[in-house]
Amino acid sequence: MPRSIRWEAALGASVVIAVLAATSSGCEKKADAASGRDLFANTCARCHGMEGAGGPPAFAGGPSPRNFRDHAFHGERTDEQLKLTIVNGKGAAMPAFGTMFSEAQLQALVAHVRSFDPQRTGP
Ligand code: HEC
Repeated sequence: MPRSIRWEAALGASVVIAVLAATSSGCEKKADAASGRDLFANTCARCHGMEGAGGPPAFAGGPSPRNFRDHAFHGERTDEQLKLTIVNGKGAAMPAFGTMFSEAQLQALVAHVRSFDPQRTGP
């Protein structure tokens, strides 16, 4: 039945169009913000806390995980520096994540770290 085959093809095409529309840039932005929170919760919160307030040192005598609720800290670091810390780590206590995160994920993580600043003025 050639008629019904044509219908199926048309239906298939519209599903593809719907999927393409759903992955357009507008949605991507939202997904990044959400994934920054998820990535932080899964990978960073065990040391830095869910609310970014830091926590006890990972080992006796080691430095405390940075408190991201400290407004002054945000003024002392550029986004690029935060990104490099995630990639390269810091000292013996902050692990280097290397290539674990994509560029987009790094940006989402930096944005999430910035969102803890209590006096944040940017968007
Ligand atoms: C095993 C515990 C641990 C984990 C997991 C961890 N951190 Fe850290 N982080 C630390 C410690 C400890 C410091 C302080 C290091 C120092 O000052 O020498 C720190 C410092 C930092 C700093 C500040 C560096 C600076 O410029 O002073 C940033 C930014 C940071 N961490 C981001 C992250 C992010 C984002 C994640 C998750 C991807 C993460 N950390 C995961 C322990 C951790």
